[in-house]
Amino acid sequence: MDEKSFGHIPVLFHEYIDSLNLSTTKRNIVVDCTLGLGGHAVGIIKKLHTGDIFVGFDLDNDNLSSSKETIEKSVGCFARDNGITIHCIHANFKDIKTKLSELGIDTVTAVCYDLGVSSAHFDDADRGFSFRFTGKLDMRFDREHGGKTAGDIINHANEKELIEMLRIYGEEPKARFIAEAIVKTRKIKPIETTEELTRLIEETSYDPKSVVRSFQGIRIAVNDEFGSIETSLKDTVNLLSPGGRCAVITFHSLEDRLVKQIFAEYLQAERDEFTGQDTVPAILKKVTKKPLLPTEEEMKQNKRSRSAKLRIVEKR
Ligand SMILES: C[S@@+](CC[C@H](N)C(=O)[O-])C[C@H]1O[C@@H](n2cnc3c(N)ncnc32)[C@H](O)[C@@H]1O
Repeated sequence: MDEKSFGHIPVLFHEYIDSLNLSTTKRNIVVDCTLGLGGHAVGIIKKLHTGDIFVGFDLDNDNLSSSKETIEKSVGCFARDNGITIHCIHANFKDIKTKLSELGIDTVTAVCYDLGVSSAHFDDADRGFSFRFTGKLDMRFDREHGGKTAGDIINHANEKELIEMLRIYGEEPKARFIAEAIVKTRKIKPIETTEELTRLIEETSYDPKSVVRSFQGIRIAVNDEFGSIETSLKDTVNLLSPGGRCAVITFHSLEDRLVKQIFAEYLQAERDEFTGQDTVPAILKKVTKKPLLPTEEEMKQNKRSRSAKLRIVEKR
């Protein structure tokens, strides 16, 4: 099976899997923090051997079920025949340390993240992620554990909170006007659907990109995406064994900047300011100087890949 057999096309498929530097001789303990529809997971599991462990997380139960099915269909027999253990867990990757500890795992050899939304999220109107379809304003990855929906935030956050959300997470220049319009409109009637919100943004901003940016900002806030990335990446750095790799695919500049900044904390040695000597060595090293980008060919075949960047680091 190749990467196109999944109905959706996993981004940077070969680059992502190769970046994990899976061993053919030593034991691999690999964590895929974002199973999604299981495309990358299948590619990873195919490279494992006897005694290896694969752990996958997804916060979205529908995607978790799809990925479990795909994994079972594509590599279930292979894994059983070769003594490879697979755990697919409904969890937030920010809980990576606790969830692995529940499995008796305290070090890992590779961890990967393919951040953000899956194609399944955008294609399902009921989830409220896409402004292309009319749906309830939901946008939660995890619908099982409660949590505020996009509708809750749009209808109850105060104006300042709305401005900050749109400005910081959406990088929306007209955040103030859009927030004002939201507050004015909801006084008359709650804003309940993606269509109502899209119309309001279009009528306020006259810039179609404002809708894209605002939806991104709301989604990031609903799922506390940046908080989860920060907690998880820091725990991953501690969990990695020497030589272990972490690979992260991001899809927009804010996400990429955050990942870059978190890794940067571990890429620098501590230095004595007087002698200029390193006192504590750096914890991580970069595997590639610059992030890897999709080829022209991949961008042509898969529009979603256009904004993807793959950052890879290795524990020293
Ligand atoms: C881009 S998709 C991953 C696609 C996957 N690599 C594949 O090949 O199908 C991102 C997935 O991460 C999940 N996700 C997002 N934030 C998460 C979090 N904090 N913890 C666990 N899963 C998360 C989403 O539900 C989504 O299924």
